Amino acid sequence: MITYTYRLEGKVVLIAGGANGIGECTAKLFSKHGAKVVIADVQDQLGHSVIKEIGPENSTYIHCDVTNEDDVRNAVDKAVSTYGKLDIMYNNAGIVDYGKPPIIDNDKKDFDRVMAVNVTGIFLGMKHAARVMIPARSGTIISTASVASGLGGLSTHAYTCSKHAIVGLTKNLAIELGQYDIRVNCVSPYALATKITETFYKLDRDELEKMTHDKGNLKGTILRADDVANAALFLASDDAKYVSGQNLFIDGGFTIFNSAMQVFK
Ligand SMILES: NC(=O)c1ccc[n+]([C@@H]2O[C@H](COP(=O)([O-])OP(=O)(O)OC[C@H]3O[C@@H](n4cnc5c(N)ncnc54)[C@H](O)[C@@H]3O)[C@@H](O)[C@H]2O)c1
Repeated sequence: MITYTYRLEGKVVLIAGGANGIGECTAKLFSKHGAKVVIADVQDQLGHSVIKEIGPENSTYIHCDVTNEDDVRNAVDKAVSTYGKLDIMYNNAGIVDYGKPPIIDNDKKDFDRVMAVNVTGIFLGMKHAARVMIPARSGTIISTASVASGLGGLSTHAYTCSKHAIVGLTKNLAIELGQYDIRVNCVSPYALATKITETFYKLDRDELEKMTHDKGNLKGTILRADDVANAALFLASDDAKYVSGQNLFIDGGFTIFNSAMQVFK
């Protein structure tokens, strides 16, 4: 007989950027593991359809632009007023711009927009999660960074800069909140097919997956949203009860490899 372990039984999670892609997949996985899920996003129609799939008795949607502090405060308060607490904050909302080199052609407005969502948005998510987690002296905060958090040249200046910044925020907050037994980590996926990458690379899902497979280190397998969701599940669960301040790369070894000096052929 197969026994299934529910790893988030009784937990309450808020997922910013949970209406689509990695966030949507994580919302469904966390719910399967027994969590009550609040999805906060700007894509209301998509958000409501995810709630319908998960089941409105176990999940709820709130409109939230992560760049707006009132929205983020309301989303955190909604989790607490609906389900009584907040155990897991997953700051996953993110965007990319088209500010490709040369830098002299990059538009400050585009740079600011990416920083507002990818950095300020995560700062606000961390701040308001901490506001309710500190009195409870428990909780865990996860954010989505990227392989661009550890390497240059993979994406635009704004995106790369924003993802490096998430690691800095994660480390700083892990130190501050350690005294309350609150863990703070981030996940850094390699490229996978979601709306953000399909739009950026102007490729369909199959073309994108072929490209990421060909350029990736791990052959014969393709990174999918559920691989990222599973890593977030590990960090959110008690299995990671002594893991804090870490940037978990979900990249099949992509970031430890430099093709310029390849000796294994
Ligand atoms: N897809 C990849 O290859 C990849 C790789 C590494 C990291 N990431 C990161 O993963 C995260 C999720 O991206 P995804 O790939 O699932 O793309 P996605 O576009 O499918 O999902 C992003 C979600 O964030 C939401 N969002 C955007 N701006 C928002 C805002 N201001 N307020 C609230 N929500 C907002 C979107 O509506 C969407 O639901 C992002 O942070 C992205 O940078 C993606």
